[in-house]
Amino acid sequence: MVAQIPLLTEQQIQDRVIELATKLNSDYDGKNLLVVGILKGAFMFFSDMVRRLTVPMAVDFMIVSSYTDTETTGKINVHYDLRESITGKDVLIVEDIVDTGITLNAIRQMLLQRAPASLKICALLDKKERRLVNVPVDYVGFDIPNEFVIGYGIDYNNNYRNLPYITVYKKEG
Ligand code: PRP
Repeated sequence: MVAQIPLLTEQQIQDRVIELATKLNSDYDGKNLLVVGILKGAFMFFSDMVRRLTVPMAVDFMIVSSYTDTETTGKINVHYDLRESITGKDVLIVEDIVDTGITLNAIRQMLLQRAPASLKICALLDKKERRLVNVPVDYVGFDIPNEFVIGYGIDYNNNYRNLPYITVYKKEG
């Protein structure tokens, strides 16, 4: 069941994307920026974010998954790895949501071994209450309560990613 009232409206999301991009443009001035999108969930946030960045940058992607239904399996599947070398680059991971932290922690450990000049994380949503693994999130769009959310790239069994806003999904019964 999809909640009728958005948790975050399209306007709230877009306003926050602009605020985050303004901060990133300042922080990455003069750096060698590679923005890494974590698919599938981050595709909308990533594309809205990068079009607001004005600093020189390149993009790359990883496809990673760990959820079935509304539960994490605790295991990360890397379906597609980066094409670019990140050695010596200022890498910014762009993710849709940090929940248990298992996904980002695994990606972070993996990428740190490749010796980037810096490695930071930008996540649209932070569900701190559910954290199982500590992971430093440098840029956060919104702190959200412990609810299963969908929309703006985020799915329930690969559905609802197309919604331009974020809302709560509750299982029937
Ligand atoms: C979702 C989301 C994050 C991760 C966060 O990905 O996009 O990558 O879960 O959860 P965690 O902090 O508990 O690890 P999912 O595995 O559903 O794949 P998707 O991006 O293809 O939707």
